[in-house]
Amino acid sequence: MANNEKTAKFSLGDMELDLPILSPTAGPDVVDIRKLYSQGDVFTYDPGFTSTAACESAITFIDGDKGELLHRGYPIDQLADKSHYLEVCYLLIYGELPSSVQLKDFESLVTNHTMLHEQMIHFFRGFRRDVHPMAVMVGVVGAMSAFYHDSTDISDEHQREVASIRLIAKMPTIAAMAYKYTIGQPFVYPQNDLDYASNFLRMCFAVPAEDYVVNPILSRAMDRIFTLHADHEQNASTSTVRLASSSGANPFACIAAGIACLWGPAHGGANQACLEMLKEIGTPDRIPEFVARAKDKDDPFRLMGFGHRVYKNFDPRAKVMKQSADEVLELLGVENNPTLQVAKELERVALEDPYFAERKLYPNVDFYSGIILDAMGFPTSMFTPIFALARTVGWISQWKEMIADPTMKIGRPRQLYVGAPHRDYVNVENR
Ligand code: ACO
Repeated sequence: MANNEKTAKFSLGDMELDLPILSPTAGPDVVDIRKLYSQGDVFTYDPGFTSTAACESAITFIDGDKGELLHRGYPIDQLADKSHYLEVCYLLIYGELPSSVQLKDFESLVTNHTMLHEQMIHFFRGFRRDVHPMAVMVGVVGAMSAFYHDSTDISDEHQREVASIRLIAKMPTIAAMAYKYTIGQPFVYPQNDLDYASNFLRMCFAVPAEDYVVNPILSRAMDRIFTLHADHEQNASTSTVRLASSSGANPFACIAAGIACLWGPAHGGANQACLEMLKEIGTPDRIPEFVARAKDKDDPFRLMGFGHRVYKNFDPRAKVMKQSADEVLELLGVENNPTLQVAKELERVALEDPYFAERKLYPNVDFYSGIILDAMGFPTSMFTPIFALARTVGWISQWKEMIADPTMKIGRPRQLYVGAPHRDYVNVENR
């Protein structure tokens, strides 16, 4: 960050303040309003943080108008095409692409931490069988703080490192076990000669009674879904992780908070909601009815998988996901999958509609991801846990960056109070 010596003038009555303007390496300038309250005795009001940067970060950059997403400067489409998830994890956490030795060491470190403490199995068994796997994820990840005491001291850099590796390594095991538990099948333990994505597919779909061979095309598609969800700058769940961590809470509790936030249908839950919507539409002839509902201000229905707070152009992840959907469905021999046909037609109709064009509403990452996961055999309830698994590295990278920042403060937004002013208590007999 550079102070570019320009200032913004702020005046209110007799008071005048020069507010510094900070220049990022990319993106619009940022007015530093930190002295506004101490010197000006006013707050700013910005519900939803639409105009407020809450931190400095060097990890991910989004240009919403161009539809560009960069991780440590590298475009997401290049990473999705040429790299793979664990390499992207290394890039996000450590800031540079690894050498081949660094990559091998990192992969082997992650691979050697995939198993869960055996006692955690009892924790799973406490849930009802019909539990949503996201509820299991929130609970089990939070409970890691009870099983891995030796990596909860956030002031110790080594412990932070161990917690990071444990979370990335164990998240697929936890997500797969959450799934197996809800369908009443035995847990499948990790197999460390498989790569990250193949291991996850095997833990989800293998059963002890049969051999299971991972299809490399499905494994590649799975890895790509992980890569496309790895990080997305200061979104709601990442900001939740940062806010929770700002109090000094342990990393497992903070990541559990991020998972809880991700669950909502406006965020990570949108992929489940989107596929359910596409299936409810069912056939292209019903699209106009749903588009009309999405435009009707008296109807709470929204086109799921459409629109984004930051992207006012195509979400670059949606483009890769659409291509992946075509590949996976062709491999599985279901190119004429009716849900994919509805999705493509709905995209076409919405993009030609002035309502969506004027509001710059384009398909987001969730529009096509559900179709791929569905074709792979995942139930909709597993879509958001898969997102949480993949986003864990983003949360961790942002958490590590925040803890290492010497200017870090506890997060504490202010408010515009609209309640009753001071009044005296009235005894119950006088009310
Ligand atoms: N369908 C219909 N109208 C929409 C949609 C949609 N999906 N999204 C936004 N709009 C309309 C709003 O009604 C609003 O219209 P108005 O100006 O006439 O009042 C306008 O577009 C702006 O919308 P906001 O809600 O102000 O935009 P915001 O940035 O707050 O919301 C969000 C972004 C939450 C993603 C929204 O577009 C949405 O709900 N989309 C559907 C859910 C979804 O796909 N979420 C996934 C996001 S990506 C992710 O988390 C991985």
